[in-house]
Amino acid sequence: MTASITLPVSILGSISREEFLRDYWQKKPLLIRQAIPGFTPPLDIDELAGLTLEETVEARLVMEQGPESPWQLFNGPFEESFLQNLPEKDWTLLVQAVDHLLPEVGELLKAFDFLPSWRVDDLMISYAPEGGSVGPHFDYYDVFLLQASGKRRWQLGQPCDESSPLRSDTRLKILTEFEANPEQDWVLEPGDLLYLPPQLAHWGTSLSEDCTTWSVGFRALSAEEILCGVADFIGETLEEDLRYTDADLTLPEHPAVIDDAAMTRVKNLLNQVINNPAALSEWFGRAMTQTKYPDQLLPQESPWTSATLHELVEYAAEEEPLLVVAEGSRLAFRISTEGNWLFADGEALKFSLTIKDWITRLCSNREFDVQFIKNTLALPEASELFVKLINQGSVYLTEEDEDSNLLH
Ligand code: SIN
Ligand code: CO
Repeated sequence: MTASITLPVSILGSISREEFLRDYWQKKPLLIRQAIPGFTPPLDIDELAGLTLEETVEARLVMEQGPESPWQLFNGPFEESFLQNLPEKDWTLLVQAVDHLLPEVGELLKAFDFLPSWRVDDLMISYAPEGGSVGPHFDYYDVFLLQASGKRRWQLGQPCDESSPLRSDTRLKILTEFEANPEQDWVLEPGDLLYLPPQLAHWGTSLSEDCTTWSVGFRALSAEEILCGVADFIGETLEEDLRYTDADLTLPEHPAVIDDAAMTRVKNLLNQVINNPAALSEWFGRAMTQTKYPDQLLPQESPWTSATLHELVEYAAEEEPLLVVAEGSRLAFRISTEGNWLFADGEALKFSLTIKDWITRLCSNREFDVQFIKNTLALPEASELFVKLINQGSVYLTEEDEDSNLLH
């Protein structure tokens, strides 16, 4: 592993954040040449490949002319011998959530602080020798593609939707038609960044033997996910007694007819149960902060109390980060008339406005030093929340401090 990433003042080059949101976000692609000048990835291809040998890492390999089918998909973990015997060309290795595995890689996410952090899915890294590609396809996510090493040609095509025809001879969702736009055909070099809005056909092909691409994906829930999620969440709280009633029933036109009055009663009942802003907020905050891999969250075996925090600050060195947010953790907060919540990895924790500033600071950092913990201890409500985060594994003690054995 080499040095950490040096981020520019803005990853959007000469385009302001406001301009980007107004003109490009979810609307049209944007190529930013040298978004990160002099970018050198903090991990090399061998280190990336090494990750795919591990059971806990989500990895895939796509081979254009696979032994069994075209665009054949292989799922990790992989054997060393499999990786060593790959053809020279025309395949891609993809590794999900490298930001969860290597904090040095996760540093890049700081460059996207003009977007809601709870929209981030993960940072995926792909490696491809010459000719490697995952085929022409579209995604439902917004994505920023950073060329990390080597060269890749990106061709953009037509807008797509559920009805866009896909190849039937592969498990991958590869488009049968790709209408390449000659004006959106670019070769990316290290440090170049390409933003793609959702549902736009794209096709990236490696032009060198050392092509690595980092993609930061921003997920968006489908209406189906929202409807089913909310229905489950609110549904659990509803009493048996609340049901369809028709005390206003008048003589039906025919005993088998379902008339407008019946449908109005259904709609009114649904509106009544869904019109619950507090429950909607709580559900959404929980849903958007669920971890991508719940197993990666390690709850404390012996739960902490604020006394543990007091003990920690007594012995710890002043400037060093003491506690850190777990790599895969997601934090968000909401302040509203229906309530104030801190959302952490799917949990919803209520708070009062007296600790609003502390909540903001908590959600602005991934590392906490002695001073932060001292300030936390001065606020009993904040201490209680912070201890909850530690106990559920969202925040953990840095290794140095664990090794120093100051705590029992
Ligand atoms: C890749 O990195 O090879 C593929 C990324 C994508 O097209 O979504
Ligand atoms: Co894609």
